[in-house]
Amino acid sequence: MTEPKEAPEAKPADINKGLLTRWWIHAAGAVLIAVAVGALAYESGFVPNRETVQSASQTTADGFFQPPSDDQIPNDEFGAAVRRGQAIFTNTSTNASQYVGNGLSCSNCHLGAGRQPFSAPMWAAWVQYPKYRSKNKQINTMEDRVKGCFSYSMNAQHSIKGGPPPAGDDIYRDLQTYMYWLATGAPTNEAIKGVGFGKVAKTELGYSPERGAEVFAANCAVCHGGDGQGQKDINGRYVFPPLWGENSYNWGAGMARIDTAAAFIKHNMPLSQPGRLTDQEAWDVAAYIDSFERPKDPRQKGKTIEETRKQYHEGDQIYYGQTVNGVLLGVGTPDPERPVGAGD
Ligand code: HEC
Ligand code: HEC
Repeated sequence: MTEPKEAPEAKPADINKGLLTRWWIHAAGAVLIAVAVGALAYESGFVPNRETVQSASQTTADGFFQPPSDDQIPNDEFGAAVRRGQAIFTNTSTNASQYVGNGLSCSNCHLGAGRQPFSAPMWAAWVQYPKYRSKNKQINTMEDRVKGCFSYSMNAQHSIKGGPPPAGDDIYRDLQTYMYWLATGAPTNEAIKGVGFGKVAKTELGYSPERGAEVFAANCAVCHGGDGQGQKDINGRYVFPPLWGENSYNWGAGMARIDTAAAFIKHNMPLSQPGRLTDQEAWDVAAYIDSFERPKDPRQKGKTIEETRKQYHEGDQIYYGQTVNGVLLGVGTPDPERPVGAGD
């Protein structure tokens, strides 16, 4: 494997406004935590040693588990694997390039590099596996689960290798080492607060892409673009990820379900202002995003959309296989163009 590359430094151009905002939010959060830890030390009347600092910082003020910070990654072989895993997680199309068929990174949907509560954080996921999933009706190991996100969320069918990393690949080892480290000190065998994307209560009005179009224009287009295709920097790398179209997640992904997207959006978007949208707005804008074409469900191979819908999407809240604005959704988008010379 090649050495992981760092993401290029964010440039203070207009396009990076969101990233800068995010930086401020994170910086403010870090100060609050530092203040909390400091206050604790003051109250208990002693200067804490390293162990007590660590355990004091294990839970945030609102009761979420707090994973260790990057400067606590050890400088040994284990720490090197943690860093490789983190680099794959935050910069997937560079550090696992052969298996990524779209413009996304794991951390685009698992925010804060897999740390943020209700952003399906990796510390909470780690302590739940192996786990039964109705999606494939079997016990899933963490490797199986990550393979699923490569197949659907990262659209591996359009990657150079044409599918997810093979079983036992170092990519899985490194990613799991990162998750294991993030979960240092996390409670096991009990419910853990902040797991998954949370839920959004059903509303009386249900959901509507027409209403969602307005929510999108007012709250999302500034970063994700008026046509939902995201925005790239001058090096051609996504600064704001696409929400539909050929460089997005495919129809088999969890995010392609309106209820899952509504929960993600309610708890995580607009970036750095989670909870700003009402439940109704979250449902409507999720429906709007789902009303456009995206890469096809890889399980569709050799089947019609109708058969695939019956077999894999029965009962799901998703526009796959439905006709919206006169267009049958689920046909898929063409393969995105690959840079010249890419591939083997
Ligand atoms: C397009 C958004 C998206 C991207 C990109 C993405 N995921 Fe996910 N991930 C999800 C969703 C949605 C779920 C929840 C799935 C569901 O509800 O079926 C999930 C679930 C998971 C889980 C299980 C969480 C739990 O609490 O059980 C793990 C682990 C995971 N993803 C890892 C990854 C890794 C590693 C990558 C990159 C290789 C990745 N994901 C990329 C959206 C995404
Ligand atoms: C300030 C800029 C900004 C705004 C406004 C914003 N987003 Fe995002 N959004 C981002 C960024 C950046 C990410 C990736 C997060 C990361 O990598 O940390 C993201 C990720 C996402 C994702 C998951 C990744 C993907 O591409 O599918 C979805 C879905 C999403 N946003 C939907 C929305 C919706 C809906 C709104 C409006 C309610 C919205 N966003 C408003 C910046 C923004």
